[in-house]
Amino acid sequence: MTYENLLVEVKDRIIFLTINRPKALNALNVQTLTEIRHFFSAGYQDHDDFHGVILTGAGDRAFVAGADIKEFLAVAEDGNGETMAQRGHEIFFLIERFHRPVIALVNGFALGGGCELAMACHLRVATENASFGQPEVNLGIIPGYGGTQRLNQYIGKGKATELILTGDRIDAQEAHRLGLVNYVLPQEEAREKAVELLRVIGSKGPIAIQQSIRAINAYYDGKEGYAAEAAAFGAVTKTEDFREGASAFVEKRIANFRGK
Ligand code: CAA
Repeated sequence: MTYENLLVEVKDRIIFLTINRPKALNALNVQTLTEIRHFFSAGYQDHDDFHGVILTGAGDRAFVAGADIKEFLAVAEDGNGETMAQRGHEIFFLIERFHRPVIALVNGFALGGGCELAMACHLRVATENASFGQPEVNLGIIPGYGGTQRLNQYIGKGKATELILTGDRIDAQEAHRLGLVNYVLPQEEAREKAVELLRVIGSKGPIAIQQSIRAINAYYDGKEGYAAEAAAFGAVTKTEDFREGASAFVEKRIANFRGK
């Protein structure tokens, strides 16, 4: 598969995977998600000759600013929000269950689906300008790519509930304090730290690494939460509030929600 929105660069046994839609702040449209699915399934599933993957966003403003809201409006027309969330879950599970470590190098906004993507990676190294949040309620929807499940896992129910219900953004230092990111560093150092982590992990037994990933994931393997999120996401994408919220974003105005 030829990638339109992913850049793949291999250097010293490390794969740099860059989401390359900087004009849309690397928002995840269907094409990009399809390419990510391909990379983490067909692309590199059977190869062992690399230490791991560093996943980042192109440009200096965003890791990923979420699902592509403009494309997303079509979901309301099709009424397939639940399927959309389930597909996202499947793709993000491929990352979470990947046999080599995947490090999110979070170099700017990690919002909505972007925060969810970073959380599906095994480790997160943030640059000082990074910020995190689940702002879906501003659009009249909820997180749909695992945010209601994984944010709890990293930062606990209380703070996760606050962030999801308020849609507030936190900066990299706060994300570090809460345990959402492993390191916060200036840009160049952050990249070097991600490389160093993969080199250290790459010096260990690959089977031990793979089985560690498997065992850590097993603790969180309950499927009900993700199914509940997909069903709830399907429900909210059918509302007038979602059309209003997404239209307001596109039209750059404040949304007027009416609870319908
Ligand atoms: N989808 C599509 N386009 C997006 C986008 C997104 N998620 N985020 C930003 N863009 C686009 C903007 O529309 C804009 O394009 P134009 O130049 O064509 O108008 C461009 O990227 C630059 O963005 P802004 O002009 O908005 O830049 P800013 O500096 O003023 O604001 C921002 C930056 C705070 C990140 C703001 O862009 C923003 O709030 N983005 C949306 C964040 C969001 O709500 N994410 C959640 C999406 S829903 C989701 O992800 C659901 C899920 O869980 C599956």
